[in-house]
Amino acid sequence: MSSHDTLSVCIHGVSGYTGAECLRWVLNHPRLRLVGATAQKAAGKPVSALWPRLGAALDLTVSREPVEADAHLLCLPHGQAVALAPQLSGFIIDLSGDHRLAEPDHSAAYGYARATAPWLYGLPELGHSRYAGEKRVANPGCFATALELALLPMAAQLPDILHATGLTGSTGSGVTPTETTHHPARDENLRPYKVLNHQHVPEVLRALTEAGARSLPSLQFVPISAPLRRGILVAIPLPGATIENYQAFYGGNLLAAVSDQPPDVLSVAGTPLARIGVVHSPVSGTRGATGTVVFCAIDNLARGAGSQAVANLNLLAGWPVDLGLTALGPLV
Ligand SMILES: NC(=O)c1ccc[n+]([C@@H]2O[C@H](COP(=O)([O-])OP(=O)(O)OC[C@H]3O[C@@H](n4cnc5c(N)ncnc54)[C@H](OP(=O)(O)O)[C@@H]3O)[C@@H](O)[C@H]2O)c1
Repeated sequence: MSSHDTLSVCIHGVSGYTGAECLRWVLNHPRLRLVGATAQKAAGKPVSALWPRLGAALDLTVSREPVEADAHLLCLPHGQAVALAPQLSGFIIDLSGDHRLAEPDHSAAYGYARATAPWLYGLPELGHSRYAGEKRVANPGCFATALELALLPMAAQLPDILHATGLTGSTGSGVTPTETTHHPARDENLRPYKVLNHQHVPEVLRALTEAGARSLPSLQFVPISAPLRRGILVAIPLPGATIENYQAFYGGNLLAAVSDQPPDVLSVAGTPLARIGVVHSPVSGTRGATGTVVFCAIDNLARGAGSQAVANLNLLAGWPVDLGLTALGPLV
């Protein structure tokens, strides 16, 4: 694995939500130096005018064209990253779905064919040695990250059918409001969507295959949009899962914490942390039966996007996976 002192970074799509989140983690990182930030409609504006909480912390203007850098974070709509990537050199992390899946799964999930092979799948828990000599990483989807972290320790012993439910916050839909994502439609509402047919399920199956799954389950996933801005919570009944197994799998991992209690999203909002709960309980209405449900809570913009992108860049650079990711955010 190569080792660098510092890396210059260009964030592509800085006017969007994952772009803003990458900005936060890059600016807080001791060995990353932001040299460029791109967008189309916002080109020519100061980055600080897009994200007022920056205050005067950053003196940089949004450009339309890519800026030369050691590393590029592609925070772009699906279909844009695949078009831009061939023009770039150095390390590239694609936060979109453009490079996650092989064909024909990619076409089925995203509606267009891609001629090139998928990139290294960037879930650090699949193993750090996989990054040696690599330059391009497909950052996992936000729901996919939560589902994978809940399932990976059980990859070798999954049942044939898995039922998963997941709730997600509104920032997961990006900065542009639509009929189903603008405030009156989301606030005080819970809305199931893409029932059993979410585009992240095939990449979860890819990750389980890489983790050594002997056979792949039918993952029957019900996503629900929830009235919060940041956060994802998934719940999966999983017979045979034990807290000991999960603690052993995640032992020493500073970006994942395991408990025997269910996690909530406020406890991860703004942080790079995944909280995994392995909850074993008597099943009410039965005579003595017990069951186990595995939960995972993440911040869709952090562990589900920006902080995971920086973790992936750390691994490409030969740095500790959590470098620059340990600063405290607001505690309440
Ligand atoms: N939101 C999440 O929680 C989340 C989590 C994981 C992964 N993702 C994935 O990450 C990607 C970005 O998501 P997002 O939520 O950040 O989307 P978003 O809020 O819609 O932001 C995308 C930004 O890209 C800019 N853009 C579009 N084409 C561009 C180009 N050619 N060059 C430079 N900038 C361009 C757009 O601004 P202009 O129109 O002004 O250029 C827009 O602000 C998507 O593929 C999404 O699926 C999102």
